[in-house]
Amino acid sequence: MYTHLLSPVAVGAVTLPNRVVMAPLTRSRAGQPGDVPTELNATYYAQRAGAGLIVSEATQISQQGQGYAWTPGLYTDAQEAGWARVTEAVHAKGGRIAAQLWHVGRISHPLLQPDGGAPVAPSALVAEGAKCFVVQEDGTPANVPTAMPRALETDEIPGIVADYAKAAARAGRAGFDLVEVHAANGYLLHQFLSTNSNQRTDRYGGSLENRSRIVLEAVDAVVAELGADRVGVRLSPHFTAHGIADDEAEASALYLADEFSRRRLAYLHIAEPDWAGGPKLSDDFRAALRAHFTGVLIFCGGYTADRAEALIATGGADAVAFGRPFIANPDLVERFRRGAALNEPDPSTFYGGAERGYTDYPALDPEG
Ligand SMILES: Cc1cc2nc3c(=O)[nH]c(=O)nc-3n(C[C@H](O)[C@H](O)[C@H](O)COP(=O)(O)O)c2cc1C
Repeated sequence: MYTHLLSPVAVGAVTLPNRVVMAPLTRSRAGQPGDVPTELNATYYAQRAGAGLIVSEATQISQQGQGYAWTPGLYTDAQEAGWARVTEAVHAKGGRIAAQLWHVGRISHPLLQPDGGAPVAPSALVAEGAKCFVVQEDGTPANVPTAMPRALETDEIPGIVADYAKAAARAGRAGFDLVEVHAANGYLLHQFLSTNSNQRTDRYGGSLENRSRIVLEAVDAVVAELGADRVGVRLSPHFTAHGIADDEAEASALYLADEFSRRRLAYLHIAEPDWAGGPKLSDDFRAALRAHFTGVLIFCGGYTADRAEALIATGGADAVAFGRPFIANPDLVERFRRGAALNEPDPSTFYGGAERGYTDYPALDPEG
């Protein structure tokens, strides 16, 4: 059963024992103050070490890159040390883990920003209908509309690229096996890619190549730290939330796939948009991604083991990532192996809180 899904695959410098990837999942349980990963976080990830590869929850590369309270960072010594405990726990259980490097751009609020300033974006355009999560001045948490951002000056962009490099260096020191540059889901890099959110007239706006420039600069900076065989990228062409409406979503994804191939990146991770109300990706576009990217290609979004097996068997993907199934099933791979039933995830405990809905989903065999 699932002979393709449960077979090994090399992803750059790392060999996965199976092709079941744990998708990046924000769980908003970082230690406070300081957004530092905790022992509880280490337990959660270690429980899921049976995944071929774990991709960490999105992790901000700077305070400016934060858009939600209680998400972990990777820009202080304490955060680096917290992540080192997580990677150690995952490795002790025989697993592998990538750090998802995140800058939210305009999906933020002055309450989260350094000195209470405006969030930054390619252009001063608010993300229509988008929310972020803050702790208000009276101490109560709330989902609030994202604030009007200010447009980044051209000469600020090298600093952001450098923040990606510094976070990558910290990821390496913290023991991560790989890093994933988060260029999906309407956050900063996606805001540069998308035709509606990027109205710039400098070399980071206008043409598709210009809109892609910051993505490639960030990737190159991360590669310079860790080597291309330890770097992947997540894209979400046709994603429509967070105010994104990209007229060239497919063209830019294929252009980037070519550029990533030239750089011999370890993997390209496609977050399909339909799980969150977006359109379905066409078969032609999937095939084009496959043709343009020569590394390991991962798809994610609404998969079952059967659909993942079929996609890998036909060569349409090398691996498949699972999000919500991994929230509820720490031993997801073992359940696939045995054809066992899956626990159902409880969305009310996805974000925030403690053990409940985080580390208390039952495995088939109790630990030990
Ligand atoms: C609670 C939750 C948190 C998520 N956090 C992230 C994240 O931090 N980074 C990211 O790229 N995608 C994130 N996603 C999207 C997932 O990685 C994945 O694309 C999505 O859940 C669809 O896959 P699934 O149907 O297997 O759950 C999140 C999804 C959920 C449900």
